[in-house]
Amino acid sequence: MSKKITDKVTWVGKVDWELTTFHGHEYSTFKGSSYNSYLIRDEKTVLIDTVWVPYDKEFVSNLKKEIDLKQIDYIIANHNEVDHSGALAELMREIPDTPIYCTANGAKILKGHYHQDWNFVTVKTGDTLDIGSSTLTFVEAPMLHWPDSMMTYMSGDNILFSNDAFGQHYATESLYNDKVDNCELFQEAIKYYANILTPFSRFVTKKIEEVLSFNLPVDLICTSHGVIWKDNPTQIIEKYLEWANNYQENQITIIYDTMWNSTRKMAEAIASGITKTDPSVTVKLYNASLDDKNDIITEIFKSKAILMGCPTINNGLLHSIGGLLEMIKGLKFKNKKAAAFGSYGWSGESVKQVTEKLKEAGFEVINDGIRTLWVPDADETTKLIDYGVSLVRQLG
Ligand code: FEO
Repeated sequence: MSKKITDKVTWVGKVDWELTTFHGHEYSTFKGSSYNSYLIRDEKTVLIDTVWVPYDKEFVSNLKKEIDLKQIDYIIANHNEVDHSGALAELMREIPDTPIYCTANGAKILKGHYHQDWNFVTVKTGDTLDIGSSTLTFVEAPMLHWPDSMMTYMSGDNILFSNDAFGQHYATESLYNDKVDNCELFQEAIKYYANILTPFSRFVTKKIEEVLSFNLPVDLICTSHGVIWKDNPTQIIEKYLEWANNYQENQITIIYDTMWNSTRKMAEAIASGITKTDPSVTVKLYNASLDDKNDIITEIFKSKAILMGCPTINNGLLHSIGGLLEMIKGLKFKNKKAAAFGSYGWSGESVKQVTEKLKEAGFEVINDGIRTLWVPDADETTKLIDYGVSLVRQLG
């Protein structure tokens, strides 16, 4: 169902309340998502982005109720990952000659995905498209978060169609940021940033500075996922600048997995040492097998330091910790400290291996970690508490 945003702009996307995972199973979407597509009717008619493949027929069918497809003069593909380009093939069967405005990388990606020689018009930053009383200006945003990503600015209505940037995997029928639970909204926004945009933070800062330098008025930020930023729309731009600047809170996150609870007991003893030494620090514990990996990543994003605990199995690591270490390596966190811990019975390689992987992931490892043979007794528990105490001092 379409929703009118301004006299000229109508939302024609899809709210996906059922979505539980995104990027295959790599990203949990407990609050669903939306694929936002927008129809602009000025002297010319423009469609910005489409929706994910499973909803392609529904999208085109709904669009036909809104407009005769032949009246669409231009399609703008701000970004061509399948959650936004997925309905293009279905649409282009109906209007095969309609020009598709996208970056040069966008054209390559669309050809690579759909193997069609559509009427691509490639654009660069500063190129414009006159559509009547409004002008659309294109701003390339490579690696935010794909090489093809771009944003489109609409004069008159002062709308920034930002695509993935500033988005959230958050299903809502309310459409606007001031009409939803803001705790949920910002939790989903920071989760999105932490899990998708962290590696590209330096591009985020540069691109925002570039866009701000244009001094364009922004009344609405129309993202491709989640809410439209309408109430104080630039608040999310300010948040992005904060998040992109090696973000951290006064938080230490302890992530562990455990087979027979020894490593869990270690985690809890270390946590008590930290909190008794510095009650101001937020300490959170997560079992990597039980807690959601993307929520853990979000907590790591918020942390000044992490401790990662893993027992030794088969001379190595439990898969949950191994997988999480691979994720954090790819996310390229900056300015975070770390250490490892873990229980063992005989060979006990895990702490050394976790330490090495934390270093590879770019964390500043602050000590050699701590190991416990079998199950911590009272003396060992005291040592672990003392380790937590010394850790606070090492963190300064
Ligand atoms: Fe929402 Fe990068 O696609």
